[in-house]
Amino acid sequence: SANASTSRAPAQQWSTRISFILAAAGAAVGLGNIWKFPYVAGENGGGAFVLVYLFCIALLGVPMLMAEVLIGRRGQQNPVNSMASLAREAGAKPAWKNVGRLGVVTGFLLLSFYVVVAGWALAYIPITATGTFVGLQPQEVGQMFDGHLQQPLPLIGWSTLVLLLTLGIVGRGVRKGLEKAANLLMPLLFVFLLILVGYASTTGHFGEAVEFMFKPDFEKLTASGVLIALGHAFFTLSIGGGAMMIYGSYLSPQVSIARTSILVAILDTAAALLAGLAIFPIVFAYGLEPGGGPGLIFVTLPIAFGQMPLGTLFGTLFFLMLSVAALTSAFSLIEPAIAWLTEKRLMSRFKASVLGGSGIWLLSLGTVFSFNIGADWTLAGKTFFESLDYLISGWMLPLGGLLMALFTAWVMKPEATAEELDGDSAAYRLWLVLIRFLVPVVIMVIFLQAIGVIKL
Ligand code: PFF
Ligand code: NA
Repeated sequence: SANASTSRAPAQQWSTRISFILAAAGAAVGLGNIWKFPYVAGENGGGAFVLVYLFCIALLGVPMLMAEVLIGRRGQQNPVNSMASLAREAGAKPAWKNVGRLGVVTGFLLLSFYVVVAGWALAYIPITATGTFVGLQPQEVGQMFDGHLQQPLPLIGWSTLVLLLTLGIVGRGVRKGLEKAANLLMPLLFVFLLILVGYASTTGHFGEAVEFMFKPDFEKLTASGVLIALGHAFFTLSIGGGAMMIYGSYLSPQVSIARTSILVAILDTAAALLAGLAIFPIVFAYGLEPGGGPGLIFVTLPIAFGQMPLGTLFGTLFFLMLSVAALTSAFSLIEPAIAWLTEKRLMSRFKASVLGGSGIWLLSLGTVFSFNIGADWTLAGKTFFESLDYLISGWMLPLGGLLMALFTAWVMKPEATAEELDGDSAAYRLWLVLIRFLVPVVIMVIFLQAIGVIKL
């Protein structure tokens, strides 16, 4: 297709369609699937919440994912330049490039707390492997997690390690870094997940978990539960953070954006559901609470691992899998900034990695301290970590996603989007309707509700 700018050199493109799918699935499948999804589903009553979440993925998430990938693929540059060149092509204001800037900044900020939580996962690999949880009382496991959060230095050490691993891969570039890692790690991740689901089914409480996750009880669904399902659908698909835009920019023009986006959404959803099926049978088998909150997998699950046969082995595998999932998402969060620094400021990839990494490291200290020495540094009752999470997940990602959707739906010429999305297909017409009407209306309703203008 005739792009707005020249295509990237082959070395700057995914070598196959599968590589893009695995890298994009790597960006999507992360802490959101394995850490966040099970506990928010648990807190919001299970089945009905899961159903709403699935609807949000299909009707809003997939079209938005397609929009973001489309911008990157047609722009063939970092998010800022891609937005600028597509705005130029459409005869629109250059200010649209600020949407690209928002994406770069959002990914950067999100990574600063993502590395900290990923660091907990990494730390729990040796902790679990050395049999720490064996025979511990529930309270003691809880105290361990609290104790872990109390010490800034080890926390900084673990998040620094996550960051270094991330930079080590991203610094190598698209083919040798991102693509190689995704091709190796993503199949491994799904194998681990399936093994863990199999292990969970040996508890004899698999049916209970299936019922909890899939039998909708609408009595348990609240308005805030619906909003959480919606916000989580964006977060889990990595929409609005520039990640899918930059990955789309490495995609060759022959590949179908609709088909690959749907596949990525299916893989992400499968990962979340499998994570639930790996976790809830264990939770029920030991009479624990499915609504365990953020501590569900760092406290509730280790309590069970400490009592189960082969719990040390499978517990270690669990945290290994969580770390892999978090890492492949971390790559995608820093890549927009690195690509922007390299392409715009004419800096080497290595220098960009060092510079970007240093910034993220400094910011991550704020999150580390919000669990210990800075626990009282609050804004409107929220710690630094909570404020950042709220700002990014609640506002910046949805706003970025909304602006990208509006841009493809109303600013870009339909001929341009049709060229990227196989314009003769029924899928294209459905996409156009959803991205023009349903997506903006729903997101605006959420914003109005969040600032208290309307009450759902
Ligand atoms: N989708 C990731 C997860 O579920 O953990 C989080 C994420 C990554 C959000 C990249 C946004 C992003 F740009
Ligand atoms: Na996800």
